Amino acid sequence: HSTSLTTLEIQPLGAIGVDETGTIRFVERNLHGGPDELIASFKASKSAWADAKLVCIKSTTTGFFFPGFIDTHVHAPQHPNTGLFGKTTLLDWLQKYTFPAESSFSDPSVASRVYQNFVSRTLSHGTTTAAYFATIHVPATNTLADICLQRGQRALVGRVCMDSEVSPEYYRDESAEASYQASKASIEYIRSLDPGGVIVQPIITPRFAPSCTSACLSAMGRLAQESNTRVQTHISENKGEIDLVASLFPDQKSYAHVYHAHQLLGPKTILAHCVHLSGMERRLVLESGCKISHCPASNTAITSGCAPIRLLLDEGHTVGLGTDVSGGFSPSILENVRQAVWVSRHLAMQVDSDAVKLSTEEALYLATCGGAAVVGLEDKLGGFEVGKEWDAQMILLGNVGEEGCQDGNFGEGPVDVFGWESWADRVEKWVYAGDDRNTVAVWVRGRLVHRTGRYPGYEETS
Ligand code: GUN
Ligand code: FE
Repeated sequence: HSTSLTTLEIQPLGAIGVDETGTIRFVERNLHGGPDELIASFKASKSAWADAKLVCIKSTTTGFFFPGFIDTHVHAPQHPNTGLFGKTTLLDWLQKYTFPAESSFSDPSVASRVYQNFVSRTLSHGTTTAAYFATIHVPATNTLADICLQRGQRALVGRVCMDSEVSPEYYRDESAEASYQASKASIEYIRSLDPGGVIVQPIITPRFAPSCTSACLSAMGRLAQESNTRVQTHISENKGEIDLVASLFPDQKSYAHVYHAHQLLGPKTILAHCVHLSGMERRLVLESGCKISHCPASNTAITSGCAPIRLLLDEGHTVGLGTDVSGGFSPSILENVRQAVWVSRHLAMQVDSDAVKLSTEEALYLATCGGAAVVGLEDKLGGFEVGKEWDAQMILLGNVGEEGCQDGNFGEGPVDVFGWESWADRVEKWVYAGDDRNTVAVWVRGRLVHRTGRYPGYEETS
């Protein structure tokens, strides 16, 4: 896990104790002796635990635990469009592929089928928390929240608001007032499902400035204040979009000022992309306390640009990673860790400066701790520390079907090991050559929410 932006802590002989609420109670480093000795000494030092029954996940010598990934920007209804973008860029991509696909979620059976599939996919890639854009439909949005809660994936679930004529007549809210009422209804439903917001919470989701009338943006700013709800939207992704915003909101100094004028910028706001923000806009975003979702695969696929992540980090912005499916072509945050590194290397080649390159460690930090801060859960998530919660994935490298495997032969895995590599080398191989076949089990708050046949299982100890 990451202990800072640049430091990945690796403990080859460690142990982590998690209680029945999913909270990490002890972290032991540089262990000597086996799990039995550790348990005995833990029980002896904590009398309240003397009679506890213990469940230990079997360890393996080719695997490791890693914090769950946090996807800070993803469109669940666009899952069936993954991989489809052709030669489009943002504005024609929306009209050609995205609005037709999303409009089909007026049918609840489409919503439950696609959302079940997508939550399975993201969990299988180690995503333990996701900030989801749904569609304009309240029943379908609520279904996504139901599914996340049932499956145990932490989620911020947002009904998409859009009432302007930039959206087609067949797929938009009827008025700003209708938009406000529908968003309010979805917020109330999601809060009734999970009153503490422990697994699922609502998020106010004006799609982006061009999709919303000024009245709609104001209504969303008011709703955020009244209901104390987080906000997510897109900003400064593509040059054509920026020009469109300037023409639709001629009185505003910049794209960021459009949101600012409608009370939508603040510490609970997640802004996706931020590829082309001006210095003035970056200052406004920083001073407002907004968080940034970097979506590198999407920015390359629909040729939006290379977000200046080193600059944003140096200025003090809080940054996490987003898959932005289906602008992004992969539901995997691991893929976006790679892509974040690639985008930074392309920027480095353009400006002839190695300083803008992100390291593997930095990209992994953005995928975990950075993401936790973006969604406001930095006290609970991101790393393996006492008091945080067990949102984790078990990664197995090497050939599958070997030691500890429950059910035999599954063919070759994507990452082979000789056995002499350092753990830092193994993590690097996982980042650049691994995929969901290496993610053999996933937990959220201590609950096993995904496993494959390679998961080695657990032992009970009294
Ligand atoms: N801007 C407005 N809507 C969208 C969307 O669905 N995806 C992306 N990437 N950008 C957007
Ligand atoms: Fe997006």
